[in-house]
Amino acid sequence: MSTATPYGTLPPASPVAERKPVSLPRLAEMRARGEKITMLTAYDATFAAVADAAGVECILVGDSLGMVCQGLNSTVGVSLETMCYHTESVTRGIRRVQGTAWVIGDLPFGSYQASREQALHSATALMQAGAHMVKLEGGGWTTETVRFLVERGIPVCAHLGLTPQTVHALGGYRVQGRSDESAQALERDALALQDAGASMLVLEMVPAALSAALTLKLPHCHTIGIGAGKDTAGQVLVMHDMLGVNLGKNPKFVRNFMQGQGSVLEAMRAYVAAVKDGSFPENHLHAW
Ligand code: KIV
Repeated sequence: MSTATPYGTLPPASPVAERKPVSLPRLAEMRARGEKITMLTAYDATFAAVADAAGVECILVGDSLGMVCQGLNSTVGVSLETMCYHTESVTRGIRRVQGTAWVIGDLPFGSYQASREQALHSATALMQAGAHMVKLEGGGWTTETVRFLVERGIPVCAHLGLTPQTVHALGGYRVQGRSDESAQALERDALALQDAGASMLVLEMVPAALSAALTLKLPHCHTIGIGAGKDTAGQVLVMHDMLGVNLGKNPKFVRNFMQGQGSVLEAMRAYVAAVKDGSFPENHLHAW
C-alpha cells in the first residue's frame, strides 16, 4: 500500500537522518571551523520540510510573509497571530520529516517596541508556536530588550542595516552604513547587541567591507548576510526570491537557484552548496 498522502507528500523520516539537530553549540562549532551557516525563509510545512531535507541549517519564518504570502506592500501590517500560525506550520512540517533545522520566528512590527514585557509576551508566543529563537529589528533601544529576553532563556537574532519594519523611516529599501558616521553607528549597535547576548545578527544591505569587518569583531554573534557580501558567518535569502517565484525584478543580492535545477529540493541543495563553497554570494555581483 502506498504511504503517499494527497496534497503534498511528506516522508515519515528525513532523507538526511544522520544529521544532528541544529543547536546554538552546533552553530558555534560550524563557525569555529569556518563552515558557512545557511538560512532560508519558509512559511509553510512543505517548503520547510524540503529546505530541511536540502540541508538548510536555519529556517527563518520571516515577516516577509506579509509580502510573499499575504500580498501586503511591506512587513508593517503583519500580526503576531499570523507569525504564530506560520511558525506552527513550519515546525510541524519539520517535525513530520524528523527534521533538524533551527527555526527562527520573526517578531512583527508593534509586537516588541512598547516595552521589554511586551517583547517577552510576544517572544513567548513564538517559542510556544515552535520557534527556537526570535528575531527583532534595530539597534540602540533594542539592546536592553535583547538582554531581557536572553536572560529569560530566549535565544535572540538581531537585525541591522536595512530593517524592513522601519522602511518608511529609512526612506526606502536602501543600502545602510555607507557613510563613516552610519558605519560607526552600525558597529556600535552590533557590539552592544553581542554584549547583550544576541547569538545571531542578520545584516541586510550593508557594504561588504563593513559586514566583513563586523564579522571579525563579533565572535559570539553569528552574522548572517543578505546583500552584505560573502564574508559573513552565513547567508539568508527569501525562499520565493531564490526560487525565482517573483514577477518583479529581484534585488541585486538574489541569485535564482532554480535555474538549471529540476526541483525545489535541488535548487535548495544548490543554494546550500554555493554558500558552503563560497561561490554565493559574489561581491562584485551581489553586494555593495
Ligand atoms: O522577514 C524576512 O524574511 C527577513 C529576511 C529578509 C532576513 O527578515
